[in-house]
Amino acid sequence: MNQPSTVIIGASSGFGAALAENLAGAGHRVLAGSRRERPSTASLRHIRLDVTCAKSVGEFMQAADAHFGGEPDGLVFCASDPGAVAHAWETDTEEASRVLNVSFLGFVRIVNAFVPPMKSAGRGSIVCVGSQAARTTLDLLAVYGAAKAGLEHYTRCLAHELHGTGIRANTIGIAAETDLAQTHRAAKAKLRGHPSPLPQLPPVSDNLPLARWLLSDDAAHITGQTIEARRP
Ligand SMILES: NC(=O)c1ccc[n+]([C@@H]2O[C@H](COP(=O)([O-])OP(=O)(O)OC[C@H]3O[C@@H](n4cnc5c(N)ncnc54)[C@H](OP(=O)(O)O)[C@@H]3O)[C@@H](O)[C@H]2O)c1
Repeated sequence: MNQPSTVIIGASSGFGAALAENLAGAGHRVLAGSRRERPSTASLRHIRLDVTCAKSVGEFMQAADAHFGGEPDGLVFCASDPGAVAHAWETDTEEASRVLNVSFLGFVRIVNAFVPPMKSAGRGSIVCVGSQAARTTLDLLAVYGAAKAGLEHYTRCLAHELHGTGIRANTIGIAAETDLAQTHRAAKAKLRGHPSPLPQLPPVSDNLPLARWLLSDDAAHITGQTIEARRP
């Protein structure tokens, strides 16, 4: 592949921002979307995007089409809302709805917009960022974990339905010291009345190789899988 074109959703901070810069540095043409704007460079263009808004997603998809002159080779979904940290029985349903709307339905909107044209192009690798919270019981993260469980299973079904089309879809888990990790830690500490006894998480850079590999042709045989990039 000559100069791969890659879309990264949720790229204004943390893992998405680091992956966008890393891929741009490695020769990808990158289009990044998030609510906060970041400066664009020749190889990395940032555009405003709110994944909770179908109109914004539609406009972003058209901007990607115009930018790349066709469908992207790679699509990475990193957007997530850090809210609804609470005991399961004290869930604020407004906050829960926001978490599900960004972290799960946001991906569904992106898939609805991007996958039909990618199917016509007959190629592509989709990577969505899930979490071990989908598969293990992490204290005070019932809603976050439920959103990630939905995301993970939806992606598995997406991969199954796309079998034979040339499009792959996989979920990765990460462990990194980011805004979201710090927001979760602070909210938990407030509820518990003491700081977290857990050590700091690894740097974001430790988590990038898995996503880069899944986007590459070296992973052409991998689809419908969930893989952890790094254990905390
Ligand atoms: N850090 C960890 O240890 C860890 C562990 C497991 C999974 N994850 C997952 O890794 C992914 C990246 O998170 P991170 O840790 O790097 O945290 P982060 O720095 O807080 O990144 C979250 C990203 O989501 C974007 N976002 C939030 N709402 C959005 C919306 N409505 N529309 C578009 N973009 C939106 C944010 O951009 P704007 O605010 O500018 O929109 C930001 O770029 C998330 O899916 C998270 O759940 C992280």
